[in-house]
Amino acid sequence: MVHMHITSWILGLILFFAAYFLHTGGNARVSKILHMILRVFYILIIVTGVWILLSLSNINAEYIIKGLAGLWLIASMEMILVRLKKNKPVRSFWIQLIIALVLVLLLGWRLPLGVLHM
Ligand code: HEM
Repeated sequence: MVHMHITSWILGLILFFAAYFLHTGGNARVSKILHMILRVFYILIIVTGVWILLSLSNINAEYIIKGLAGLWLIASMEMILVRLKKNKPVRSFWIQLIIALVLVLLLGWRLPLGVLHM
């Protein structure tokens, strides 16, 4: 399940950046399709993340914060793409995305499961 989680969030981030740059580059139609696929990946990321959480025997606050930071990152990606379509400012959400991403990666790699600990 950890592999599935990692694969989902990597593909999710790639889809997000592709959808963002296609939209700013003028290709709104393809960007919209990628955004729809990205929403399926949100579900995959959350389901696999919650699955890992539920299968832990020694769950602590750090795991909970890791999960909340992951949800925050997903919310930031969604807000950026939706506001971009409506031509609203997205700067504050980029700042949130960067903070959430740094938090998620630091905690994710610090915690004992995953590729850095195999
Ligand atoms: C886009 C959002 C997310 C990203 C980028 C992300 C990233 C990561 C990373 C980098 C790891 C560590 C894997 C490794 O060591 O190689 C990880 C593990 C984990 N993630 Fe996520 N995650 C996200 C969303 C979530 C969500 C929404 C939840 C739960 C609600 C969650 C729960 C977990 C748990 C429980 C682990 C295992 C921690 C460990 O012991 O290593 N993640 N995630």
